[in-house]
Amino acid sequence: MRPTTEHGKRNTDNGTQNTENGTQTTEHGKRNTENGTQNTDHGTPTTSSKSLLRFLTCGSVDDGKSTLIGNLLYNTKKICQDQIEILKKDSKKHGTTNTDVDYALLMDGLASEREQGITIDVAYRYFETPKRKFIVADTPGHEQYTRNMVTGASTSDLAVILVDARKGVLTQTKRHMFLVSLLQIPHVLVAVNKMDLVDYSEQSYNDIVAELQTFCEKLDLKNLSFIPVSALAGDNVVDTSTSHTPWFKGVSFLQFIEDLYVKSDRNLIDFRFPVQNVIRPNLDFRGFAGRIESGTISPGEKIVALPSGKESTIKSIVTYDGDLDEASSNQSVVLTLEDEIDISRGDMIVRQNNLPKSSNELDATICWMSEDPMTFSGNKFLLKHTTRTVNAFVEKINYRVDVNTLHRDSTTSLDLNDIARIQIRTALPLFYDNYKENRSTGSFILIDPMTNNTVAAGMIRGKTRTIEDVTGAKTKITSENVVREFFDITTKLREEQNGHQGAVLWFTGFSGSGKSTVAKAVSKRLFEMNCQLTILDGDNVRHGLCSDLGFSASDREENIRRVGETAKLFYENGMLTLCSFISPYAKDRDRVREILPDGHFLEVHVKCDINVCKRRDPKGLYKKAMAGELKGFTGIDAPYEAPVNPEIVVETDIDDVNTIVEKILFELRERSIINT
Ligand code: ADX
Repeated sequence: MRPTTEHGKRNTDNGTQNTENGTQTTEHGKRNTENGTQNTDHGTPTTSSKSLLRFLTCGSVDDGKSTLIGNLLYNTKKICQDQIEILKKDSKKHGTTNTDVDYALLMDGLASEREQGITIDVAYRYFETPKRKFIVADTPGHEQYTRNMVTGASTSDLAVILVDARKGVLTQTKRHMFLVSLLQIPHVLVAVNKMDLVDYSEQSYNDIVAELQTFCEKLDLKNLSFIPVSALAGDNVVDTSTSHTPWFKGVSFLQFIEDLYVKSDRNLIDFRFPVQNVIRPNLDFRGFAGRIESGTISPGEKIVALPSGKESTIKSIVTYDGDLDEASSNQSVVLTLEDEIDISRGDMIVRQNNLPKSSNELDATICWMSEDPMTFSGNKFLLKHTTRTVNAFVEKINYRVDVNTLHRDSTTSLDLNDIARIQIRTALPLFYDNYKENRSTGSFILIDPMTNNTVAAGMIRGKTRTIEDVTGAKTKITSENVVREFFDITTKLREEQNGHQGAVLWFTGFSGSGKSTVAKAVSKRLFEMNCQLTILDGDNVRHGLCSDLGFSASDREENIRRVGETAKLFYENGMLTLCSFISPYAKDRDRVREILPDGHFLEVHVKCDINVCKRRDPKGLYKKAMAGELKGFTGIDAPYEAPVNPEIVVETDIDDVNTIVEKILFELRERSIINT
């Protein structure tokens, strides 16, 4: 940890605390001090070029955070005269200070807050100075309000943590620090308040700074600064107080928030555009509206739409104020493309060479925000991630973090404000980035499908990893006493005799999508061509080879593993093997791909709108699943991960069987699998 002075020269690199008592900045990670001076982005102070700083204030009920902001507003004359009159009246009625004006009342805008004399919800306030615009999220400090802080933090660039100089570092202060680190707020400013009540003691201030710096070594805070203030008396709020804190060489609170450079904290690299709406006012125009969550984009750049994997080029970036040459993070725009590709709401447009991660098994940290506890009997949710809402299931609570001690407890349920690390599975894969890299595409909320209430906010840490994933245990051979037998009649000899190559055609898709129908029709044609072929079909295999398996994720995984290994044996015998299995998990299908030589595993996505499958419902299983009589049914309450790059895609809700068969045969010829 290396304390630095804000605004100007870096302190000596000896790792000791800044003895000048400037605004001390510790650094855990990047800081914007190329060439030793802090960058500022306030530039020319005209309204149009003014930047916006969103910040969050947190502290205990009477730490004075509302007073601090109120003082700032009052003294920067950012409130109208009539509001000041009201304030003076209110100060007499509800005020908690002996002064003429109780600044806190200016900040605590909610009526109930005023009545209780404490802040109970997130109150957003807007103000501006000649240099900059600000949005403040004022959140309460109590533990029971952790959820409010999580809400307020989601878009904040800076967290201002108030510490009462008399009380020093409290458990609550540490909890706030932990949350700020968890939420990855890029900048943290600790305002050591009520300095007037400790006679502006340099020692008291230094002790608090030192204690917090030590505590923060355990956390992942990027940029930590300190300022001693008296929110009530105004020291170091708007101007630095040379009379009371001559030992403090840093800047005032106002200067700090006006000059803080935040632009580079946004992710300007990874272009992510979740599609909000498809706009088609007439046949000549088709645009995709949404907000750029991160990155930048310009016309002419190559993009890919997810989940379809279809590629195109940006034609134009349309806004109300005309077309743009470039658009970036946080801008709401309409994109048009050079090609007519199918994109719908909830899809994501990204650059071809900068793809997000994709998974339906996620490792996440959540804050439980509901009064009702989360129990395992009610672990089914709607998960809203960017513009997509999908069914989700909490599979495991890894641990709960005691926010006061940072200890990890094991638990099977979560209460209001609990912070926990969980494993969650979604019905469709999410296109995400880890929260650390991208706060927008790395976060989600959980909604209770019964009440429609938001019950949790989550931050994605990555893909769930099991011990098998890490150790590769699933492919381990249990017995050490087996050796491979080799045959004289090789695959090649068989292929030559057959007049075609061996290959596995893997038909994947929803139940009722037509996998078996298509596989049967293709095999009939191949049979007529005298090809050697075998069919492996989900329902049949489950009557014998896999009769011991059900439909849990691990049973399906084992089902596909056994079938994959069987198909491989058939391949080695030079056969064409047509496998039709829902095989909903990409990783299970990929494992089959991995055990076959390149070019001999052809993934055929049998695409069909789920509603069409529901209507077809050949076995009446959708009906049962929708009535809740059949659990874990793919597409209803179990996920399906569509292939991202299948060799062949067929659409049974669009084309007839003959067309589809021709398409598949064409692909087999193209790949020289067959030659007739
Ligand atoms: S897979 O998911 O493991 O690949 P598989 O293709 O073998 O599934 O079996 C799917 C068939 O089992 C379906 O066509 C359907 O007839 C039947 N089935 C019974 N229960 C379920 C379920 N919960 N989800 C999906 N299919 C089911």
